[in-house]
Amino acid sequence: MGDVEGLKAQLEELKVEALTAFGHAQNVADLEDLRVNYLGKKGALTLILKGVGKLSAEDRPMIGQHVNAVKDALSDALDRVGSALSKLAQQQRIEAERIDVTMPARRRIAGVIHPVQQGLNEMTAIFAHMGFDISEGPEIEDEFHNFDALNIPESHPARAMHDTFFIDALADAPMLLRTHTSPVQIRTMKKFLESGQEPPLSVVAPGRVYRCDYDVTHSPMFHQVEVFSVDRGLSLAHLKGVLQHFLTTYFEKDLPIRLRPHYFPFTEPSAEVDIGCVFCAGQGCRICKGSGWIEVLGSGMVHPNVLKAVGIDAQAFSGFAFGLGVERLVMLKHGIPDLRLFFENDVRFLRRMGA
Ligand code: PHE
Repeated sequence: MGDVEGLKAQLEELKVEALTAFGHAQNVADLEDLRVNYLGKKGALTLILKGVGKLSAEDRPMIGQHVNAVKDALSDALDRVGSALSKLAQQQRIEAERIDVTMPARRRIAGVIHPVQQGLNEMTAIFAHMGFDISEGPEIEDEFHNFDALNIPESHPARAMHDTFFIDALADAPMLLRTHTSPVQIRTMKKFLESGQEPPLSVVAPGRVYRCDYDVTHSPMFHQVEVFSVDRGLSLAHLKGVLQHFLTTYFEKDLPIRLRPHYFPFTEPSAEVDIGCVFCAGQGCRICKGSGWIEVLGSGMVHPNVLKAVGIDAQAFSGFAFGLGVERLVMLKHGIPDLRLFFENDVRFLRRMGA
C-alpha cells in the first residue's frame, strides 16, 4: 500500500511540476522539449508507469486511472499553452513584418533628356515622318566640304564671316570644326551618287556645329538641323510646303510663315524664314521688336554650283535646302530667355525642361 501512496504522491508532484514548467515555456520549441521530458518515451511519466508493473493486481487499475488522469491533464495543458504560444508567435511575426502601405514611396532619381537633345529628336522625327532619310557627318571637316563645295571660294567674304575654329590654320590642308551642317549635304549627295543611285534624295542631318562666338545669343558650340531635297522639278513651293508643315508641327500651332529674300553662297535664290511671333501672335512685342515676326532659319534653292560640285546635272535636277539652329527653336518654343541655360547644367532647369 505504501508503494501506492508513494506513486500517487509522485504523480501529483510531477503534475504540479509539469504544469508549472508549461506555464513558463517561452515558445513552442521550449514547450515541445517539456512534452518530451514529461510525456515522451523516456519521460518522467513513462518512468513512473514502469513502477506500476511492480504493484499488485488490485492496485494497478487505481494507479492506472491516476496516471491517465495526469496524462490527460498534461496533454490538455500542452494543447492550451501550445496554441497560446503559437498565436503569440504569429502576432510577433506579423508585427515584425508589418508594412506601412501609406508610407510615401522612395523617390526614384532618374535622368531626363537634355532639352536640346529633346528638340533635336523632335525635329528629326518630324522630317523622318515626311520620308526624309537621317544622315550625319563629321564635326572635324576640311575646307572643301565646309566651304569650297558649298560655293564659298577662298576669297569669299562669307568665309571670313564664319568665325571658324581652325585646327591647324597654317597646315597645307587645314582641318576645322564645321561651322554649319551644310557640309553634310555635300558628303551625303556624293555618297548617294557613288552608290549608283539617282535623285530623288531627301535628307535630314542633325548635329553639332562650332563658331568662335560667345554671348547671350551665341555659343561656340551649338546644334543645327540641315534639311535638303533634290529631285526633278523642285521649286520654292516645295520648300515652303515643307517649312510650313515642319514649323506648325514643331510649334504645335498654326503659324504664319514668310520667306524674306537673303543671301547664302550655297543657295539661289536664298531666303530667311520668319514665323509669326509666338509670344504676341504677331501683335508686336519686345521679343519680335514690334515687328510681329521672328526669324527662325536660313533656306533657299540649292545653288547649281553645289549640285555641280557633287556631280549632279543642274539642268535636270533642282533642290531646296535649309538649316536651322536647334537651340534657337527650343528657346522660342519654351520661352527660354538665355541660351547659356542650355550649357550651364543647372539641374533645376534641366529637370523642369525634362518633365
Ligand atoms: N548653313 C546656313 C547657316 O548655317 C543655313 C542654311 C542651310 C541656309 C541651307 C540655306 C540653306 O547659316
